[in-house]
Amino acid sequence: MTSRRHVLMMIPAVGLVTACAGWSRITPVQTDARAPWTVTGPPDPDIRLDAFRYAILAPNPHNRQPWLIKLIGDDQALIACDLDRRLPQTDPFDRQITIGFGTFIELAKIAASKRGFGVVVTPFPDGVPTDRLDQRPVAHLQFRRDPAVVADPLFQEIPKRHTNRLAYQQATLTGVEQSALTREGVTINQEPSLIAQLRPLVVDAMITEMKTPPAWMETVNVMRIGAAAINATPDGLILEGAMIETLHTMGVVNQTQLANPDSFAFKTGLSDVKKTSGSFPAIAYIKTASNSRVEQLEAGYHYVRANLRATGLGLSMHPLSQALQEYSEMTPYFARVHDLLGLKAGERLQMLARIGKASSVSPSPRWPMEKHLIS
Ligand SMILES: Cc1cc2nc3c(=O)[nH]c(=O)nc-3n(C[C@H](O)[C@H](O)[C@H](O)COP(=O)(O)O)c2cc1C
Repeated sequence: MTSRRHVLMMIPAVGLVTACAGWSRITPVQTDARAPWTVTGPPDPDIRLDAFRYAILAPNPHNRQPWLIKLIGDDQALIACDLDRRLPQTDPFDRQITIGFGTFIELAKIAASKRGFGVVVTPFPDGVPTDRLDQRPVAHLQFRRDPAVVADPLFQEIPKRHTNRLAYQQATLTGVEQSALTREGVTINQEPSLIAQLRPLVVDAMITEMKTPPAWMETVNVMRIGAAAINATPDGLILEGAMIETLHTMGVVNQTQLANPDSFAFKTGLSDVKKTSGSFPAIAYIKTASNSRVEQLEAGYHYVRANLRATGLGLSMHPLSQALQEYSEMTPYFARVHDLLGLKAGERLQMLARIGKASSVSPSPRWPMEKHLIS
């Protein structure tokens, strides 16, 4: 198989339509899964639509793109969750999905700043959900032209940022790189003895997820295999390339095979995880004092800013979320990773990502921004 196959095998947790009660979707047509990465022509005169065109390029769990956008008046928007796009097995409390709203909101703010607009964000304006997200909005956004707003230089990195699941080189980060990333709100650690303990831990956690059928099926179910599937449903995780197309036609790589631990497809994925995911010289992580919904959003703001900053520095990032997840098979990894990183009682690890230099990767698929608009 080609090196492309890695793209799917190491990723954790999943429909379309379904929305907040009483909201209906304004449906567009999709043509090219990568088209949203190229924003051409003059900016949309409506600053909100212009900002959201960039926001949909945000990193988000399993690339579920769960964002629903309802425009209010001529300068506001409500952002809510498409509840069918959550990942109940691997993300039982919607913690990671909420982080993916933080990344979306931060990109909207960065894009708005480019045109001299500030965005006032009110998280959970109708109340904060507890165990799971619900139909209530995740955030209310008000866009205001503001002469004090300076264009955020990270804007130029938005179309270049991609999650990179390839093998990383072992070169550590420079002090300048570490400082630039730390300023965006992540902690960088490349202490050799810590990295040596984390590498097997994250790989074992991934393998455990692959061998836990309900959790693994959240990945298998969103796997788009081959160009036709990717363009038809431009979300989720992908397997692509000439070899994949051939193996898919032969019935060697498909959802059924990926779900079967005895199959060639599954074993190849497992072997890929072992080769790539443990290859890192450094980690970036985000911890919070507790685990509130607002802290989860904030973790998203910081993660995407660090990811954009890393992109500008020529560095790649790849979240390694399994050990942070709240289902029973992850309990020992969860405890160990919190312990290794020295978190105090009550503190919570929200993001853990490997960081370093790697070959470049292609953009992941996206639905066009219009797909997220609801009335
Ligand atoms: C909260 C969160 C957790 C994530 N966890 C993982 C992970 O464990 N493994 C992984 O390969 N990617 C992970 N990702 C990355 C997403 O899969 C990725 O952002 C998505 O597929 C879109 O791809 P892109 O970032 O290249 O645009 C995570 C992203 C977020 C925001």
